[in-house]
Amino acid sequence: MQYRVKPASGLQGVVRLPGDKSISHRYAMIAAVAEGDSKIENYSSGADCQSTLRCLRRLGIGIDKQDRTVTIHGRGLDGFRAPAEMLDAGNSGSTIRMLSGMLAAQPFTSSITGDESLVKRPMARIMKPLALMGATVTARDGQYPPLEIQGGKLIAIQYEPPVASAQVKTCVLFAGLHTAGVTSVVERVVTRDHTEVALREFGAEIEKSGPVISIVGRPALKAQNLVVPGDLSSAAFFLVAANLFPGSRVAIEGVGLSPSRTQLIDWLMMAGAQIRVLDVAQGAGEMVGSILVDGRALDGGVIEGAMAAGLIDEIPVLAVLGAVSRRGLTVRDAKELRVKETDRIATLAENMQRMGIEISVSADGFHIPGGQSFRAATLDSFGDHRIAMAFAVAGLRAEGGGETVIDNADAASVSFPEFYDTLESLRG
Ligand code: S3P
Repeated sequence: MQYRVKPASGLQGVVRLPGDKSISHRYAMIAAVAEGDSKIENYSSGADCQSTLRCLRRLGIGIDKQDRTVTIHGRGLDGFRAPAEMLDAGNSGSTIRMLSGMLAAQPFTSSITGDESLVKRPMARIMKPLALMGATVTARDGQYPPLEIQGGKLIAIQYEPPVASAQVKTCVLFAGLHTAGVTSVVERVVTRDHTEVALREFGAEIEKSGPVISIVGRPALKAQNLVVPGDLSSAAFFLVAANLFPGSRVAIEGVGLSPSRTQLIDWLMMAGAQIRVLDVAQGAGEMVGSILVDGRALDGGVIEGAMAAGLIDEIPVLAVLGAVSRRGLTVRDAKELRVKETDRIATLAENMQRMGIEISVSADGFHIPGGQSFRAATLDSFGDHRIAMAFAVAGLRAEGGGETVIDNADAASVSFPEFYDTLESLRG
């Protein structure tokens, strides 16, 4: 699908977002190995989270779906059945990496693959700890999907991932969940903690002491009724869009505000954004609230170190903001961008250049000078949801009245199928 964006003059309105993608995956996987029926409301409508449900069904888990409510008939820690077919994680790195932790502990061999983007993404980061725990995982060229996972009884380990990755942390903790003894992950750069929060909610014993996160294996997990908060990474598109047009006002309701994810709000406020967080409450261990943003011209700034890990999903849209900001945007320490759904440094640079924006790239980041103007152009999502949505936002600020065209715009449905309608509903 092609999406055409007309320039806007301001944005006004109220937004409700699909359920958080990261939390939806985790609730579904943990509910599948809990005992009994879990009801998950506001489950993400994104294709990635449907991929997780499809894999769980192939593993013998009964799942009923009504609109955004998913009921998972959990079968306990030993309830998966050997799948008759290859599991398909679609575009979802979270599905393949996190579910592999559970598959490694099963008394059967399974295979899991994904779409043309996923089969190019590195899996050595999960293969290594799973091998240390005793599983045999083989991959195409030693590190790419399809993965063949010969599961079995694992041994508990302490593991320090070489990359800051919540997916790798979750993979190891999910393997540890099925393994007698205490499995630990040492996390030097803190990543999103939805796994820890959710496992605790389902009754697992999980502790954090300094950088060490430990899980006691083989608990009896109990089914839960849960509501998934709105996705803060999806909110990012509207937080940026509002700040492209001083005078805009956008309210985002019911959004997840996990302190492990709110670097986005901190960074925008550091850049001069006027953001208010309202009605904060806690549900199932996760913080939820509303965000009110009053658009104004921002300074831009630098994203580096731990901040780069914390903002990794939001960098594409923050780059759009950077181009029109006063100081521009410099990103360093973000080489993970190169192994996301696309090489996001390359795909960002390509689309920026097509829109007449100056950008210089490095191995682990880029620099975009501030004070630039977007020119309408024909762009490509390159099959990457966050690239599609970031440049739909850029198209709002194109000067000269022309329409920006985004090829393969349907990639947005990976995390946010309602994105374009929501964006259009905010035009002032
Ligand atoms: C995710 C973690 C991040 C993020 C991805 C979702 C998660 O990946 O980019 O969109 O749900 O744990 P890494 O953990 O590989 O950095």
